[in-house]
Amino acid sequence: MEKILVLHGPNLNLLGKREPEIYGRTTLADINAMIVARAKEAGIEADFLQSNHEGVLVDALQEATEKGYAFVILNAAAFTHYSIAIRDAIAAISVPVIEVHLSNIHRREEFRHHSVISPVVMGQIAGFGADSYMAALEVVIRRLAEAKA
Ligand code: DQA
Repeated sequence: MEKILVLHGPNLNLLGKREPEIYGRTTLADINAMIVARAKEAGIEADFLQSNHEGVLVDALQEATEKGYAFVILNAAAFTHYSIAIRDAIAAISVPVIEVHLSNIHRREEFRHHSVISPVVMGQIAGFGADSYMAALEVVIRRLAEAKA
């Protein structure tokens, strides 16, 4: 069975309570459950990791290849905007990474407009709340089906 890794960065553990006017009321557990349900339908196993620590996310990205993940769906949260370490980890691995954001970072504060990871990911999906993750998952499902065909 193909496996994917869903990585959630800092403060995403607070989803549901955190700035609900921006991030909505859906919790991280809700998002993960939605992903598991859709992935299962498609015959894909999904693993999850949330961390507030940059190095933990870097380690998880580095280990993604040896752990056999076909794709990583990554919401690097605030690290998106300044973590060269996370960018370099993505560039160092061959596993394709899809960047997701709940909010549309391009219509928020100026400092959120720039993503240092965008140049090294497959693509970015932002602004659809939990559906940003679900859209990324649909891309994964289609790409894996194409690879098998
Ligand atoms: C976020 C957007 C980031 O700018 C912010 O720091 C986050 C969440 C999003 O999902 O919309 O923590 O990645």
